Amino acid sequence: MRIRRALLFMPGDDRRKIEKGAGLGADSIIMDLEDGVALTNKAAARQSILTALHEVNFGRSERLVRLNPAASELEADDLHITLPGRPDGYVLPKVEAAWQVQEVSARIEDAEREHGWPAGAIRLLALIETAKGVVNIREISESDHRLDALIFGAEDLAGDIGATRTPEGREVFYARSAVVIHAKAHGLQAIDTVHIGLNDLDGLAAQTREALHMGYTGKLAIHPRQVEIIHQIFTPSPEETQQAMRLIRAHEEHQAAGSGAFELDGRMVDMPLVRAAETVLARARAAGLDV
Ligand code: COA
Ligand code: MG
Repeated sequence: MRIRRALLFMPGDDRRKIEKGAGLGADSIIMDLEDGVALTNKAAARQSILTALHEVNFGRSERLVRLNPAASELEADDLHITLPGRPDGYVLPKVEAAWQVQEVSARIEDAEREHGWPAGAIRLLALIETAKGVVNIREISESDHRLDALIFGAEDLAGDIGATRTPEGREVFYARSAVVIHAKAHGLQAIDTVHIGLNDLDGLAAQTREALHMGYTGKLAIHPRQVEIIHQIFTPSPEETQQAMRLIRAHEEHQAAGSGAFELDGRMVDMPLVRAAETVLARARAAGLDV
């Protein structure tokens, strides 16, 4: 699965931002058709995305399109018009049931067959951002072979359940945990919600670190200045990588000598810590570091 640390949103009808976003080196670019685009501009945004998919050089960034929700009467045209541009995947908002993922997947399958594209190459990422989405997260996680990631959406969820957003985020913590647990139970990536404070870079860093510590693998971004901070936090530092390699080496030596648990730098090391070190190395490798 490809690495997705920062996923940068921009309105699909804003060619300038698409071009700007394409040049930033973000792991993923999400051209939006949903809430970032006014109802009167949906048709123009579909065309703008299709043209950008054909014309803009996105470098190594993944090219994603966010559709409108299932049963909005917009999503069929969203798909139909953008699919010929062959994006790398689609982000589905407000997913509440397995069929919503499966229906999009089936339409993509038709397009893949029609164009002779490799089957299953276009991927799906599902936003969990409503009460029903949280309640049905298990069936959503198991819904389709194209599904790569669950994305947590705190702002929409708060609106849906009548919660008030606070800096601590306790009002959405259950859902934020549920998303990462279910993602990991099903071998999916877990991507954290947007930080809407555009100028609050310390707050962004703190929220991103918290997500990392919870097991999240990436985070949504809405402004270019957020991308580098998110990339950096989801990339292990050289010190972390060194320490992880040291721990794994020590573990192998102790295993060979017949002991399961041992002491390193005043801490007990056994399998959970070894697995944590392996996770650090996997993150480093995914980020393209040579470990
Ligand atoms: N993607 C790409 N480029 C972006 C960008 C984004 N999300 N947000 C801002 N930029 C660009 C601007 O175009 C500007 O470039 P320019 O000076 O070369 O024209 C530069 O970065 C600085 O932008 P700034 O003036 O700070 O922001 P803004 O007032 O133009 O835009 C927002 C502010 C919030 C409207 C904008 O960041 C945005 O559209 N974010 C994404 C919104 C979205 O997609 N929401 C739906 C998902 S939650
Ligand atoms: Mg939303």
